[in-house]
Amino acid sequence: DVEVYKYYSDGEWKKSSSGKSVAIINPTTRKTQYKVQACTQEEVNKVMDTAKTAQKTWAKTPLWKRAELLHKAAAILKEHKASIAECLVKEIAKPAKDAVTEVVRSGDLVSYCAEEGVRILGEGKFLVSDSFPGNERTKYCLTSKIPLGVVLAIPPFNYPVNLAVSKIAPALIAGNSLVLKPPTQGAVSALHMVHCFHLAGFPKGLISCVTGKGSEIGDFLTMHPGVNCISFTGGDTGIAISKKAGMIPLQMELGGKDACIVLEDADLDLVAANIIKGGFSYSGQRCTAVKVVLAMESVADALVEKVKARVAKLIVGPPENDSDITPVVSESSANFIEGLVMDAKQKGATFCQEYKREGNLIWPLLLDNVRPDMRIAWEEPFGPVLPVIRINSVEEGIHHCNASNFGLQGCVFTKDVNKAILISDAMETGTVQINSAPARGPDHFPFQGIKDSGIGSQGITNSINMMTKVKTTVINLP
Ligand code: G3H
Repeated sequence: DVEVYKYYSDGEWKKSSSGKSVAIINPTTRKTQYKVQACTQEEVNKVMDTAKTAQKTWAKTPLWKRAELLHKAAAILKEHKASIAECLVKEIAKPAKDAVTEVVRSGDLVSYCAEEGVRILGEGKFLVSDSFPGNERTKYCLTSKIPLGVVLAIPPFNYPVNLAVSKIAPALIAGNSLVLKPPTQGAVSALHMVHCFHLAGFPKGLISCVTGKGSEIGDFLTMHPGVNCISFTGGDTGIAISKKAGMIPLQMELGGKDACIVLEDADLDLVAANIIKGGFSYSGQRCTAVKVVLAMESVADALVEKVKARVAKLIVGPPENDSDITPVVSESSANFIEGLVMDAKQKGATFCQEYKREGNLIWPLLLDNVRPDMRIAWEEPFGPVLPVIRINSVEEGIHHCNASNFGLQGCVFTKDVNKAILISDAMETGTVQINSAPARGPDHFPFQGIKDSGIGSQGITNSINMMTKVKTTVINLP
């Protein structure tokens, strides 16, 4: 029998009164691996109430004490890395080594956040009135950063632990309470992670984790009047959330179509290595994955040969074996990827490898001579399939990049740093990497998407600031 995991509310693990559960399908075996509670709207209401009450006391808890608890949680998280990683392997088919890395990176993120919070929230501003015309020095203004209240965190399946703590830790250090709605695939990993915060001894009700069906509690959560901030990472759902949410700060990261522009003078071995890492790690299921290669025609043949040789070396198989390419998260995802591949085939793309699929496992595929009329030129496969578009000028590459509705990251490979900077300036994306594949980390760097890739900037410092509001007190002198 499959275990049904409890949800976390008011410092306790509880069964939902619905008596229902949601199944988590192992992407590799395609069988039910775990089940989680299907929480009700009433249970969400209860969680919101306790979050509101707990936050009031937490906001008065000294900053150094909040930091101390976060450091404790970070250490516990790292101690539990093996058991959490095992869940990641089974729920989202993340290769075993990468699963451990996700947990360790999460522990580091929590610690860094505690340190950064102590520094930036420990400072305020002092202003005097006589710098503005017409004023005497009769007003002293004190500004500080105070918490928003209850933060709702919704991470995606591909980093259910790391992209949860990247929201939880800034929220908590800033004095907020936190309600987590994990993705269904990844929910048990997230519950294990929450357990580490529980063990660290955070006050009851400060952190809650509700699981269940989006159709039942999704809109209810995001439109709940008790929520003072939403931090979401995922797909199109984020656009719908933004439209429905109230007048509260939103932090959204919604995917990308990160372009890799390759100039004639690029070091092609470096490019090929980065295309493999950027395009195929975790089977392309990263919002920052290289999702389209825009290579100058003069070097495209040589580059494609180098990438092909490296693709041939990728190990395809189950995540337990630390394979490079593992099954994608769901059958519907695999079907979507296949749809993009078939469209490209019909429209004449060159297949550098044979298309192969078994269940949710899709073999890595490089598609050359992709043209703008193919869906894969624009859409995000979120799988191990990478299109190459040959370009005849840098402008053509920049044009393709900027014509995308996404604008997360991009990269450019050239030895000419001046050209690289000009191209970076011209690319309409949140970040451009010069001579390396796109990536979110190191986790204290700003991380943001524009256009349909999101709103707001993340990264530890920006997230802490985003989860606070400015409060001023003015002393009026006689
Ligand atoms: O999938 C979205 C993540 O924010 C990407 O993070 O660049 O560390 O893989 P990553």
